[in-house]
Amino acid sequence: MVEFALPKNSRISGGKTWPKPAGADDSKLREYNIYRWNPDDGKNPSIDTYYVNTADCGPMVLDGLIWIKNNIDPSLTFRRSCREGVCGSCAMNIDGANTLACTKDMHDVDAGAVKINPLPHQPVVKDLVPDLTNFYAQYASIEPWLHTTSPTPQKEWRQSPEDRAKLDGLYECILCACCSTSCPSYWWNSERFLGPAALLQADRWVKDSRDEATGERLDNLEDPFRLYRCHTIMNCAKACPKGLNPSEAIADLKLKMVERQV
Ligand code: SF4
Ligand code: SF4
Ligand code: FES
Repeated sequence: MVEFALPKNSRISGGKTWPKPAGADDSKLREYNIYRWNPDDGKNPSIDTYYVNTADCGPMVLDGLIWIKNNIDPSLTFRRSCREGVCGSCAMNIDGANTLACTKDMHDVDAGAVKINPLPHQPVVKDLVPDLTNFYAQYASIEPWLHTTSPTPQKEWRQSPEDRAKLDGLYECILCACCSTSCPSYWWNSERFLGPAALLQADRWVKDSRDEATGERLDNLEDPFRLYRCHTIMNCAKACPKGLNPSEAIADLKLKMVERQV
């Protein structure tokens, strides 16, 4: 019988429990269990335990991480920038679901520890920082800019309010990767399946009334893997912290593929 086992260096071991902050009211402490991995120390990943003094920090999970970095452990590594849910850089797995740490209220996490891991099924750079090189290359592959052959207008490419409205539900994507990294099809085929984020973006340009490369864009997706590995499992829509529905965009692309053949 075939036995499957994780490579030795991917096993997660119990980590360090950091001391509770001195002088803090115990009833105000919130436990954080955080994935740690340092490529330079040769050790396996571990889960470290910290206690955040919620009386001294903001309400969001990201506030807690920043508090830990400032007050307990400066080596804790994670990405963040806007703290407003618009840059997409603080995406991580919190309490078992991919989301943005800056918009996730720690009081909305079930009682007990706040459990934080990097976005799943991506290589890890360090601690909570995933390597999204492949994700961004796939985004670039859909050529996310206006393609035109008509002469460039004097002032601007005009668009009616009705056509502009067709981009609602698509243009708001902040490329956080919560959707793609929650998609089972993407986990197993991330080299060849573009995944929900890149496909939602592809649909955004196909739907743009000013774009003149719809045929080429659809040709680029005509492949057994790039588009058709979506099996409508819908994890992507559930995961999106901006309330978008990549599976709907993917269904739209599939429909356009059929329509152009009849
Ligand atoms: S609907 Fe498609 S893209 Fe979304 S999670 Fe499911 S398989 Fe992935
Ligand atoms: S569709 Fe939503 S979850 Fe996916 S990358 Fe865009 S904002 Fe993030
Ligand atoms: S820090 Fe920008 S989305 Fe969270």
